[in-house]
Amino acid sequence: MPQNSVHGSSTGRAVGGTENSWCRAVPGGTGVVTVALLLSKPPEASVLQSALHTLQNRHALLGSKLHYGTTTNTFSFITSPIPPLQVKSFNLSSTCQLLQSLVSSPNTHSVSPFHLILEHELNQNPWCNLKSPSYDDGTDVFFASIYTLPDAKWVVVLRLHTAVCDRTTAVSLLRELIGVVREKEGGGREEKMRNDGEVSLGIEDFIPSGKAKKALWVRGVDMLSYSVNSLQLTNLKFKDVKSPRSSEVVRLQLNQDDTESLLAVCSAKGIKLCGALVAAALIAGHSSKRPADHHKEKYAVVTLTDCRPILDPPLSTHHFGFYHSAILNTLSMKGGEKLWELARRSYMAFANSKNCNKHFSDMADLNFLMRKAIENPGLTSASSLRTSFLTVFEDPVIETNDEIYREIVGLEDYIGCASVHGIGPSIAIFDTIRGGMLDCACVYPSPLHSREQMEELLHNMKRLLVDAAAHNRVPNE
Ligand SMILES: *[C@@H]1O[C@H](CO)[C@@H](O)[C@H](O)[C@H]1NC(C)=O
Repeated sequence: MPQNSVHGSSTGRAVGGTENSWCRAVPGGTGVVTVALLLSKPPEASVLQSALHTLQNRHALLGSKLHYGTTTNTFSFITSPIPPLQVKSFNLSSTCQLLQSLVSSPNTHSVSPFHLILEHELNQNPWCNLKSPSYDDGTDVFFASIYTLPDAKWVVVLRLHTAVCDRTTAVSLLRELIGVVREKEGGGREEKMRNDGEVSLGIEDFIPSGKAKKALWVRGVDMLSYSVNSLQLTNLKFKDVKSPRSSEVVRLQLNQDDTESLLAVCSAKGIKLCGALVAAALIAGHSSKRPADHHKEKYAVVTLTDCRPILDPPLSTHHFGFYHSAILNTLSMKGGEKLWELARRSYMAFANSKNCNKHFSDMADLNFLMRKAIENPGLTSASSLRTSFLTVFEDPVIETNDEIYREIVGLEDYIGCASVHGIGPSIAIFDTIRGGMLDCACVYPSPLHSREQMEELLHNMKRLLVDAAAHNRVPNE
């Protein structure tokens, strides 16, 4: 469904269908992408800024502004003339002042300064008033800040609109950024990157021919089943449905041994890690409800899949933008499920949908339903805007360069995730495997769910994963 009437022009293009859905979702608080880096070497603001300009030149989308046309009610990316990104610097006293104000909010006692800054940035939303006339020139899609922590640590945060930055983009962006910083500091050669100077197109323009087609009656039946299903779905217990929401993050980390055996069992069983994560989350979530009887409950699970390799033509991981698609499955639970049995059921439901091309054929339907729910929150349970229990990625981010990054920029830790407190799931899991260890950032809407509730859920998930991995330990050869 090509709908980009102005693409190809040097001043930008209209957003595509999926991008448009994100443009509608972000003002409500879902889709603010944040990558926070904890550094033990002081970042030079001028070097960072110049490196970011290099990246904006390479990837025109990152150097664009998002613009809303009031008369047409459409969003577009505009590229010229755009002043380049300015890095915002917070010195020690202004960072401490900020941290003090963040610590005073409830339930932050166990949260590190690095983590507090991540959550703070995740909830900075420069796009929330994009439709007001004072934003006639549009809003940047890319922001960067440096915070100065006590005890000689620094936090660099990149914040982007998800329409220009899916998880693959965020990962490639980080890799390219560190490469350019190294080059600017004279430590290595600059990787030559193609710069086409033009904003790349949306995912809809790359769907292999015929894959998005669906007979009209099939579309009608599917839409009906999606919306009927959504009425019967079970949610994690809501703690506070009235107060204004923000996004918070809890981490789930496994040591190297546990990660290794978990991955070994997954591969022995022919399923992916996402199946095990979904199963652990569902078992932990379902038991937290302590249902009196064993009647069945249905949970919606969304699996995000990076379509780059299967597009026409295939796109590289350095092709920036949003090229993920969602597959929605419902899973019923009656209590007493075994982790690996449920993991297999969950993974197979996803894999079968993908085999049927649902990530292409249902893209427009899911985008449509998301926009309908944003316009009518009453369609969701308690107007919570929860459309699923959980979102996961088909594949984790695998990072093997941590030691190199530590050397170049003093990278101690990092978290990359996106906000979900507008429309979205109760938990969004952003999983990475770094240095052989599973590290998941789990984002949830607060105070719809509380930090205690999520910490308990993740504690139980971790126990389930560690037990399941240990009891099925694949013997070494
Ligand atoms: C830190 O930044 C604040 C606000 O930008 C400024 O007022 C203050 O003078 C700075 N302090 C130091 C020690 O540079």
